[in-house]
Parts: sequence; C-alpha cells; structure tokens
Amino acid sequence: MTHTNDPAPARLRAQFAAALGEGQQSEWLAAFAEVPREHYVPRFYQQDEQGRWREVSSGDPGYLETVYSDTALTTQLDEHGVPTSSSSEPRLMLTMLDALDAKPGHRLYELGLGTGYNAALAASHLGGDNVVSVDVDPGLVHLARSRLAKGAYHPFTFTGDGAEGYPARAPYDRIIATVGLRSLPPALLAQTREGSVIVAPIGFGVAKVVVGSDGEASGRFLPVPAFFMPRRTASHGPDFAGLEAQAGTAAAVQATDVLNRLKFPLSLALPGYHSCSWQDESGKVTGVGLWTEDGSTATAHVSGKARQIGPQRLWDKVEELASVFPGGTPAREDFGLTITPGRQRVWYREPEGPSWSLPTE
Ligand SMILES: C[S@@+](CC[C@H](N)C(=O)[O-])C[C@H]1O[C@@H](n2cnc3c(N)ncnc32)[C@H](O)[C@@H]1O
Repeated sequence: MTHTNDPAPARLRAQFAAALGEGQQSEWLAAFAEVPREHYVPRFYQQDEQGRWREVSSGDPGYLETVYSDTALTTQLDEHGVPTSSSSEPRLMLTMLDALDAKPGHRLYELGLGTGYNAALAASHLGGDNVVSVDVDPGLVHLARSRLAKGAYHPFTFTGDGAEGYPARAPYDRIIATVGLRSLPPALLAQTREGSVIVAPIGFGVAKVVVGSDGEASGRFLPVPAFFMPRRTASHGPDFAGLEAQAGTAAAVQATDVLNRLKFPLSLALPGYHSCSWQDESGKVTGVGLWTEDGSTATAHVSGKARQIGPQRLWDKVEELASVFPGGTPAREDFGLTITPGRQRVWYREPEGPSWSLPTE
C-alpha cells in the first residue's frame, strides 16, 4: 500500500464517501470511506476531445481528485484503443452492492475482478474469506492480487471465465457481476442456494433476482442505466459486405428513433448487439448498422430502406420492438426477469406481459 504522510487522500476519501451517501443510508458507505481507491487504481486512461487516450498516474495533477470523484476509470486498453477493464462509477458500484442485501458472513462471488477495488470493498464489509472474485485476464489478476496482498483486504482471486463460477467455495449467498452479461450463466445459478441474491448487468440495465426452489429465480431490473464492458467471448464482426447483395425492404420505423428511444429494451431483445451510424459531410446521420456476435447484420438508411443478413433477422426484431413500444421510453424498473431451468425470460410490467427470451450460454 502507498503509505505517505499526505493527509489529502484521507480527506478526499471522506468527502467522496459523504457525497456518495448524500440523501441515502447504506451499510456500504463505511467501506467506501475506508478502502483507498487510489491503491487499486494507481493509473488510468483519460480520453481527450479528439478521442486520444493519455495515461494519468498517481502524482499527476488532478489524479487524486479524479480517483475520488464519481467517475469510471479506464485501466486497460486493447491494441485498438478499446477499453478492456475499468474501475466502475462508484455510485453505480454502491447501488449494486446495496442491492445485494448482503450481511457480514454472507459468501459472495464476483464476476469481474478488474482492479480489485470492488472486491476489496466487499471484503471490508463481508470479510476476505467470504469473497471470491475472478477475471478472465491473467495480467489483471496478477496486478489486482499483488495490490490486494499489500493492502488490508484479502478476497480469494483466480483467473478463468467467470461464467463457470468456482464450485469449490459454493454455495454462494450473493453473486455480483461487474461485466455485461446476456443472461445469467447457468453454472452460477447452480452454485447458489434458495434465497441467494444475484445482481448482474444484463443488456444496458442491472437485474436483481432472488433464487427460489428448484433452480428458479426471479426479480426486476434496477432503475439505473448501466453500460458495462461485455463479458469477453469469441465473436464475429459485422457482415456489411454480405448486405450489399441484399435487395432490402421498406423500413416501417425510423431507425435512429428506435435506437435512441429503445436502447435498453433493444439490449434485451438483441443481447450483445453492437451499433454504428454513418453521417454525411454536414454531420447528419444517414444510416445505422446493427450486428450481433453470430455475424447477423442489418442496416437501415434514412431513405427508408432496410437490409438484413445472417441467422437472426435483426431488423425484424427492431420493428417488432417498435410495435410493442410505439412511443416514449419504458422505465427499466418496469422490466423483470424470470429464470427457470433451461429458460430465461425478460418481461415488461408483469410476467404475462410482452417478453423476450435471453440466450442461455
Ligand atoms: C468493469 S471491469 C470490473 C471492475 C472491477 N469490479 C473493479 O472493481 O475494478 C470488468 C472486468 O471483467 C473482466 N471480464 C471480462 N470477461 C470476463 C469473463 N468471461 N470472466 C471473468 N472476467 C471477465 C474484464 O477483464 C474486466 O477486468
């Protein structure tokens, strides 16, 4: 741990925890007031207005103030400059930890160790022996582990695909994912018990479900938006070249309207979708593209022509969704999730309402 006589980190941390706690009671605020975020995030990357990344490290002007602000800190980039790990926004971390309803002594499994900061917060509240955290990236696990070893909180960490869980320490009373999922991995559900609580980003929201008997679980989405980096798996890129040969059909809805207004339901109807847009010289959007990692691709032009290719008819799904929500943006907390062995279903307003099946991985 970086031991200095500088009182600034402690003062900033106290202000940070007080700001997070404004207007709310949470048993987790003590952990935020105690665990030094700077110890787990000694450097991060910030993007300038031109989109260029620059590294900010401890000692740089503004470093500590940013660490103790409600900001997600990107900590790793791939060779294309795409973030592959970050310390999430503290307020969202607090909301998700709170939603766990975890009590000291509960055993917690975290999918997405990253910097180790969330695992350290969890260990400070629940006890290090009760926290298991995994990352798929061995380099990140190595870094987090060495920082955790030098600090005061000692969760158990390992390298692997977090979707598989860690049966040797199961059953878990609580599970938290800090990486975007398309559905709840069945292997994790199998490592819970009746009454276990799972809080996980699914699509662009955070689902909270309680495990019942016979491997079933159900609950609702939290009201907060959440855009976590996706769980890493093998994937295909978009097939825009393949679309060229498609004649196309007349689009019944405005693509830009649906993509903006129905971002969250679309992330449930098309789990793991990616999107892009094209602009003309004046900056006006002329078309949008959508694809999923099975190679399915669709485009829609502002002129009203839509094209689609691949195993899933992505544009048809966009139009179906627009017919369920013809106007306005539905609230996240009006969506729920019911899990039975073999099927995971997201529904709107009530379990019998409009629903979408999530892919069970
Ligand atoms: C937003 S970061 C997690 C933040 C972390 N909880 C913290 O406090 O710093 C998401 C992490 O999930 C990891 N990840 C991605 N796919 C994964 C997988 N299949 N299994 C485990 N971890 C994964 C990434 O390497 C990344 O470090």
